[in-house]
Amino acid sequence: MEFKSIIDPKAHHATACAVLGVYENGDLGAAARHVEAKVGGLLSRLHSSGDFAAKLGDTLLVTQARGAAAARLLLVGLGPREGFGRKPYRKALQAAAQALVKTGASDAVVYLALEEAGDLDLKYRARAVAETFGAQLYRIPDLKSAARPKPPALALVCVAAEDSRGAKTAADGLRFGEAISSGVAFARDLANLPPNVCTPTYLGAQAQRLAKEWPSIKTKVLDLPAIKALKMGAFLAVTQGSEQPPRLIVCEYRGGRKSAAPICLIGKGITFDSGGISLKDPPSMDEMKFDMCGAAAVLGALRSVAELELPVNLVAIVPTCENMPSGRAIKPSDIVTSMSGQTVEILNTDAEGRLILCDAITYSRRFKPAAVIDVATLTGACIIALGNHFSGLMSNHEPLAGELEAAGVRSDDRAWRLPVGEEYADQLKSNFADFANIGGREGGASTAASFLWKFAKDLHWAHLDVAGTAWLGGAQKGSTGRPVPMLVDFLLRRAHGA
Ligand code: BES
Ligand code: MN
Ligand code: ZN
Repeated sequence: MEFKSIIDPKAHHATACAVLGVYENGDLGAAARHVEAKVGGLLSRLHSSGDFAAKLGDTLLVTQARGAAAARLLLVGLGPREGFGRKPYRKALQAAAQALVKTGASDAVVYLALEEAGDLDLKYRARAVAETFGAQLYRIPDLKSAARPKPPALALVCVAAEDSRGAKTAADGLRFGEAISSGVAFARDLANLPPNVCTPTYLGAQAQRLAKEWPSIKTKVLDLPAIKALKMGAFLAVTQGSEQPPRLIVCEYRGGRKSAAPICLIGKGITFDSGGISLKDPPSMDEMKFDMCGAAAVLGALRSVAELELPVNLVAIVPTCENMPSGRAIKPSDIVTSMSGQTVEILNTDAEGRLILCDAITYSRRFKPAAVIDVATLTGACIIALGNHFSGLMSNHEPLAGELEAAGVRSDDRAWRLPVGEEYADQLKSNFADFANIGGREGGASTAASFLWKFAKDLHWAHLDVAGTAWLGGAQKGSTGRPVPMLVDFLLRRAHGA
């Protein structure tokens, strides 16, 4: 799908579908007011007759309205004008996109970015159009043998602006939104693939494909002997029970000043987490193919950044392997030596994410990073704490945590701060090694994070536990692409200071 900005505040454009906002008190949005005159007061009548209440997210498709320049009018409820801001604006866009793809329209003009929405500027309002419409058009790369249903006809979405300056700003916003949405789609595709396709080797090949597509990305994929040479004992312990060879993926993007310290993004890439010898229960074990969502998100964010040619330096690091039971697998009570030299008693082989991540954090030090952010489907406890709405955010650096939190709000991909540090790290005491890999049920998300915290001393480090947000179960089972929007927003701010 293509996005464009046009100058058309009065809805003169002869489009297949004009997307017009109406407030719930019957007030017409900026463009709807002009259409109203052309269609003889039809829009107000639809509201007063009760056929279109204009509650937030309501939609009504009006076809063949006489006098209108557009073949179809899609009315979108904006809810109350008071307090119309980021959340209702995005919700209205989502509803519009959902309704629009069901029509036969091959192109549309969205007039919603003309509305004032709290403190959102036009660039943001346009960006959100590309983000939400892009997400709405996403289709799972399924392996169903039946013929695919026809893809939606919608091929062109225009965003209307007041004047030529506005159209230029909107075009910039659309470019951002498109890049975010293609990063999200890339991450979702990787995560939705079955684990017999999306293996560590496959992830490595995808990272290499990224480098091919974007010459600004340099990818290195380290194999088992190379990982052994790095003495990543914790990572090696997790992979040793699997037939699939592990990979350490390192992608460097240099868009910033040569001397500028890079931001390291680390993604957990367990392509299947059976639990290992501490085997998981069967119900929903299938969802453990999503245990590489952190890796997918980090690669997705990298793709967005490369597409936008952002002036930042970025390194994506993905330790990837399977966690499987076998005669060669690690056993509860095994002790391993991590790359940092610290020893770990593995009391539960299902707490494997922290084992691969701790070595990746140690590895990241060679880049002298300005910040290290790891993204991981790390704990079931985080889902218990926050549900599917917020990712868990732990950090040893207040300003970094604040930046990520704010990025989550702006991109509607939110995180909630959870504690990390000494108190929780104390729960990891071991009689036999420097510490254990589990710390009891209490505060499970924070003890997991505090395990990583021990390896991130003196780094500006943040941890995103996306166990509850990276995918959805049930009828809508599938990857969400979170937290790509948050990560890209964070990097946009770092790059442009805006
Ligand atoms: N990948 C899981 C975490 C997870 C579980 C994410 C369920 C989403 C849904 C992780 O490797 C894991 O198994 N964690 C254990 C840790 C425990 C053994 C301390 C958990 O959360 O149960
Ligand atoms: Mn596990
Ligand atoms: Zn896991």
